[in-house]
Amino acid sequence: MSKIYKVIQISDSHLLKDKNDLLLGYNPYENLKKVISHVQEHNNNMDSIIMTGDISGDGSIESYHHFLALIKPLQSKVCWIPGNHDSSHIYKILTESFFISSHKNIILGSWNLLLLDTRVAKEKYGIISKEQFDFVTEALNLNHDRNIAIALHHHPIKIDSPLIDHCMLQNSDALLAFIKKHKNVKLMICGHVHNFYSLQQECFVLQSGVASCFQFKPHMTEIETEDKQGYTEYLFHDNQFFSKEIYI
Ligand SMILES: [Fe+2]
Repeated sequence: MSKIYKVIQISDSHLLKDKNDLLLGYNPYENLKKVISHVQEHNNNMDSIIMTGDISGDGSIESYHHFLALIKPLQSKVCWIPGNHDSSHIYKILTESFFISSHKNIILGSWNLLLLDTRVAKEKYGIISKEQFDFVTEALNLNHDRNIAIALHHHPIKIDSPLIDHCMLQNSDALLAFIKKHKNVKLMICGHVHNFYSLQQECFVLQSGVASCFQFKPHMTEIETEDKQGYTEYLFHDNQFFSKEIYI
Protein backbone atom coordinates (compact mmCIF):
# COMPACT_ATOMS: atom_id res chain seq x y z
CA MET A 1 0.00 0.00 0.00
CA SER A 2 1.31 3.45 -0.85
CA LYS A 3 2.14 5.86 1.94
CA ILE A 4 -0.52 8.10 3.47
CA TYR A 5 0.76 11.63 4.10
CA LYS A 6 -0.55 13.50 7.12
CA VAL A 7 -0.57 17.31 7.25
CA ILE A 8 -1.74 19.28 10.29
CA GLN A 9 -3.17 22.73 9.62
CA ILE A 10 -2.90 25.17 12.50
CA SER A 11 -4.42 28.59 11.87
CA ASP A 12 -5.14 32.02 13.29
CA SER A 13 -3.42 31.87 16.65
CA HIS A 14 -3.45 35.70 16.98
CA LEU A 15 -0.65 35.72 19.57
CA LEU A 16 -0.06 39.00 21.40
CA LYS A 17 3.04 40.73 22.76
CA ASP A 18 2.08 39.91 26.35
CA LYS A 19 1.26 36.22 26.90
CA ASN A 20 -1.38 37.18 29.47
CA ASP A 21 -3.34 39.58 27.29
CA LEU A 22 -6.79 38.61 26.02
CA LEU A 23 -8.37 38.99 22.59
CA LEU A 24 -12.19 39.17 22.67
CA GLY A 25 -11.98 37.49 26.08
CA TYR A 26 -9.70 34.62 24.95
CA ASN A 27 -6.05 34.02 25.77
CA PRO A 28 -4.40 33.32 22.38
CA TYR A 29 -1.14 32.09 23.95
CA GLU A 30 -2.78 29.56 26.27
CA ASN A 31 -5.11 28.34 23.52
CA LEU A 32 -2.28 27.74 21.03
CA LYS A 33 -0.35 25.97 23.79
CA LYS A 34 -3.29 23.60 24.34
CA VAL A 35 -3.69 23.00 20.59
CA ILE A 36 -0.01 22.20 20.17
CA SER A 37 -0.07 19.83 23.16
CA HIS A 38 -3.00 17.99 21.55
CA VAL A 39 -1.22 17.80 18.19
CA GLN A 40 1.88 16.46 19.91
CA GLU A 41 -0.05 13.84 21.87
CA HIS A 42 -2.16 12.51 18.98
CA ASN A 43 0.00 12.90 15.88
CA ASN A 44 3.36 11.20 16.03
CA ASN A 45 3.24 10.43 12.31
CA MET A 46 2.87 13.89 10.77
CA ASP A 47 4.66 14.69 7.54
CA SER A 48 4.17 18.42 7.72
CA ILE A 49 2.56 21.22 9.70
CA ILE A 50 1.17 24.23 7.87
CA MET A 51 0.38 27.45 9.67
CA THR A 52 -2.13 29.31 7.53
CA GLY A 53 -1.61 32.84 8.79
CA ASP A 54 -2.38 35.28 11.56
CA ILE A 55 0.26 33.78 13.80
CA SER A 56 0.27 37.20 15.42
CA GLY A 57 -2.69 39.31 16.45
CA ASP A 58 -0.68 42.51 16.94
CA GLY A 59 2.33 42.04 14.64
CA SER A 60 4.78 42.34 17.54
CA ILE A 61 8.24 40.76 17.40
CA GLU A 62 7.49 39.11 20.76
CA SER A 63 4.40 37.34 19.38
CA TYR A 64 6.54 35.54 16.77
CA HIS A 65 9.05 34.49 19.42
CA HIS A 66 6.14 33.11 21.49
CA PHE A 67 5.08 31.11 18.42
CA LEU A 68 8.55 29.68 17.87
CA ALA A 69 8.85 28.68 21.53
CA LEU A 70 5.46 26.95 21.50
CA ILE A 71 5.87 25.12 18.19
CA LYS A 72 9.46 23.95 18.70
CA PRO A 73 8.57 20.86 20.82
CA LEU A 74 6.60 19.41 17.87
CA GLN A 75 9.98 18.69 16.29
CA SER A 76 8.47 18.86 12.86
CA LYS A 77 9.13 21.17 9.97
CA VAL A 78 6.58 23.96 10.01
CA CYS A 79 5.58 25.60 6.72
CA TRP A 80 3.70 28.88 6.82
CA ILE A 81 1.98 31.71 5.02
CA PRO A 82 1.22 35.16 6.45
CA GLY A 83 -2.21 36.54 7.32
CA ASN A 84 -3.59 40.05 7.45
CA HIS A 85 -2.74 40.46 11.15
CA ASP A 86 0.87 39.46 10.59
CA SER A 87 3.47 42.20 10.21
CA SER A 88 6.61 42.23 8.09
CA HIS A 89 8.47 40.87 11.16
CA ILE A 90 7.08 37.44 10.28
CA TYR A 91 9.30 37.11 7.19
CA LYS A 92 12.56 37.75 9.03
CA ILE A 93 11.88 36.02 12.35
CA LEU A 94 10.48 32.79 10.91
CA THR A 95 13.10 32.57 8.18
CA GLU A 96 15.88 32.66 10.76
CA SER A 97 14.54 29.68 12.69
CA PHE A 98 16.04 26.31 11.70
CA PHE A 99 12.87 24.27 12.29
CA ILE A 100 10.71 26.56 10.16
CA SER A 101 10.62 25.65 6.48
CA SER A 102 10.73 28.24 3.73
CA HIS A 103 9.34 25.76 1.19
CA LYS A 104 6.21 26.91 -0.62
CA ASN A 105 5.85 23.82 -2.83
CA ILE A 106 5.59 20.76 -0.60
CA ILE A 107 5.73 17.28 -2.11
CA LEU A 108 3.41 14.73 -0.48
CA GLY A 109 3.61 11.58 -2.61
CA SER A 110 1.48 12.21 -5.70
CA TRP A 111 0.40 15.64 -4.34
CA ASN A 112 1.95 19.10 -4.43
CA LEU A 113 0.82 21.54 -1.75
CA LEU A 114 1.42 25.13 -2.86
CA LEU A 115 1.51 27.93 -0.29
CA LEU A 116 0.43 31.38 -1.52
CA ASP A 117 1.14 34.69 0.19
CA THR A 118 -1.98 36.90 -0.03
CA ARG A 119 -1.01 39.46 2.63
CA VAL A 120 -1.38 43.16 1.88
CA ALA A 121 0.41 45.31 4.47
CA LYS A 122 -1.99 47.03 6.90
CA GLU A 123 -5.11 45.74 5.09
CA LYS A 124 -7.58 43.08 6.22
CA TYR A 125 -8.33 41.90 2.70
CA GLY A 126 -5.96 39.83 0.58
CA ILE A 127 -4.58 40.09 -2.94
CA ILE A 128 -2.76 37.63 -5.19
CA SER A 129 0.21 39.62 -6.47
CA LYS A 130 1.65 39.11 -9.96
CA GLU A 131 4.64 37.37 -8.38
CA GLN A 132 2.38 34.89 -6.55
CA PHE A 133 0.25 34.38 -9.64
CA ASP A 134 3.41 33.61 -11.62
CA PHE A 135 4.48 31.14 -8.93
CA VAL A 136 1.20 29.21 -9.05
CA THR A 137 1.11 29.36 -12.87
CA GLU A 138 4.59 27.87 -13.16
CA ALA A 139 3.88 25.20 -10.53
CA LEU A 140 0.66 24.15 -12.28
CA ASN A 141 2.30 24.06 -15.69
CA LEU A 142 5.17 21.93 -14.37
CA ASN A 143 2.91 19.55 -12.43
CA HIS A 144 -0.05 19.03 -14.75
CA ASP A 145 0.03 15.26 -14.11
CA ARG A 146 0.02 15.53 -10.30
CA ASN A 147 -2.64 16.32 -7.70
CA ILE A 148 -2.53 19.91 -6.48
CA ALA A 149 -3.67 21.49 -3.23
CA ILE A 150 -3.32 25.25 -2.72
CA ALA A 151 -3.15 26.92 0.70
CA LEU A 152 -3.64 30.64 1.27
CA HIS A 153 -4.77 32.79 4.20
CA HIS A 154 -7.71 34.68 2.71
CA HIS A 155 -10.75 32.79 1.46
CA PRO A 156 -11.24 33.16 -2.31
CA ILE A 157 -14.99 32.33 -2.25
CA LYS A 158 -17.68 33.91 -0.06
CA ILE A 159 -18.72 31.86 2.95
CA ASP A 160 -21.98 33.74 3.51
CA SER A 161 -20.72 35.57 6.58
CA PRO A 162 -20.85 39.29 5.71
CA LEU A 163 -18.20 40.57 8.14
CA ILE A 164 -15.69 37.94 7.02
CA ASP A 165 -16.56 38.12 3.34
CA HIS A 166 -15.89 41.85 3.43
CA CYS A 167 -12.16 41.09 3.87
CA MET A 168 -11.73 38.07 1.62
CA LEU A 169 -9.33 37.68 -1.30
CA GLN A 170 -10.13 40.65 -3.57
CA ASN A 171 -8.87 39.42 -6.92
CA SER A 172 -9.97 35.81 -6.65
CA ASP A 173 -11.79 35.77 -10.05
CA ALA A 174 -8.58 35.55 -12.05
CA LEU A 175 -7.13 32.90 -9.77
CA LEU A 176 -10.28 30.77 -9.79
CA ALA A 177 -10.67 31.06 -13.58
CA PHE A 178 -7.10 29.87 -13.98
CA ILE A 179 -7.53 27.02 -11.50
CA LYS A 180 -10.70 25.81 -13.21
CA LYS A 181 -8.64 25.17 -16.34
CA HIS A 182 -6.44 22.80 -14.32
CA LYS A 183 -8.58 19.86 -13.32
CA ASN A 184 -5.77 18.49 -11.15
CA VAL A 185 -6.32 21.25 -8.56
CA LYS A 186 -8.54 19.34 -6.14
CA LEU A 187 -8.29 21.28 -2.93
CA MET A 188 -7.90 24.83 -1.63
CA ILE A 189 -7.18 25.38 2.06
CA CYS A 190 -7.50 28.75 3.80
CA GLY A 191 -7.43 30.28 7.27
CA HIS A 192 -8.87 33.72 8.17
CA VAL A 193 -12.47 32.54 8.55
CA HIS A 194 -12.06 31.12 12.09
CA ASN A 195 -14.25 28.07 11.56
CA PHE A 196 -14.36 24.93 9.48
CA TYR A 197 -16.23 25.27 6.20
CA SER A 198 -16.16 22.86 3.27
CA LEU A 199 -17.48 24.27 -0.01
CA GLN A 200 -17.69 21.90 -2.96
CA GLN A 201 -16.98 23.72 -6.21
CA GLU A 202 -17.23 22.37 -9.74
CA CYS A 203 -13.66 21.05 -9.82
CA PHE A 204 -12.27 21.42 -6.30
CA VAL A 205 -13.18 21.75 -2.64
CA LEU A 206 -12.45 24.90 -0.61
CA GLN A 207 -11.95 24.25 3.08
CA SER A 208 -11.24 26.77 5.83
CA GLY A 209 -9.35 25.61 8.88
CA VAL A 210 -10.30 25.58 12.53
CA ALA A 211 -8.69 28.52 14.37
CA SER A 212 -6.56 27.88 17.43
CA CYS A 213 -7.72 30.96 19.39
CA PHE A 214 -11.55 30.94 18.94
CA GLN A 215 -14.14 30.42 16.19
CA PHE A 216 -16.46 32.99 14.67
CA LYS A 217 -20.11 31.94 14.57
CA PRO A 218 -21.23 30.97 11.05
CA HIS A 219 -23.18 33.61 9.10
CA MET A 220 -22.61 36.33 11.71
CA THR A 221 -23.53 39.93 10.93
CA GLU A 222 -21.78 41.28 14.03
CA ILE A 223 -18.81 39.83 15.92
CA GLU A 224 -19.92 36.65 17.68
CA THR A 225 -17.42 34.04 18.84
CA GLU A 226 -17.55 30.41 19.90
CA ASP A 227 -15.32 29.14 22.71
CA LYS A 228 -13.86 26.30 20.64
CA GLN A 229 -10.21 25.73 19.80
CA GLY A 230 -8.60 23.23 17.51
CA TYR A 231 -6.87 22.39 14.28
CA THR A 232 -7.51 20.53 11.01
CA GLU A 233 -6.00 17.24 9.90
CA TYR A 234 -5.42 16.29 6.26
CA LEU A 235 -4.53 12.88 4.88
CA PHE A 236 -3.28 12.63 1.31
CA HIS A 237 -3.35 9.19 -0.27
CA ASP A 238 -2.87 8.46 -3.97
CA ASN A 239 -5.42 10.68 -5.76
CA GLN A 240 -7.59 11.34 -2.71
CA PHE A 241 -7.57 13.53 0.36
CA PHE A 242 -9.45 13.23 3.63
CA SER A 243 -9.89 15.96 6.22
CA LYS A 244 -11.08 16.14 9.78
CA GLU A 245 -11.66 19.17 12.00
CA ILE A 246 -10.43 18.52 15.52
CA TYR A 247 -11.62 20.48 18.54
CA ILE A 248 -9.72 20.04 21.77
FE1 LIG B 1 -7.05 36.84 9.02
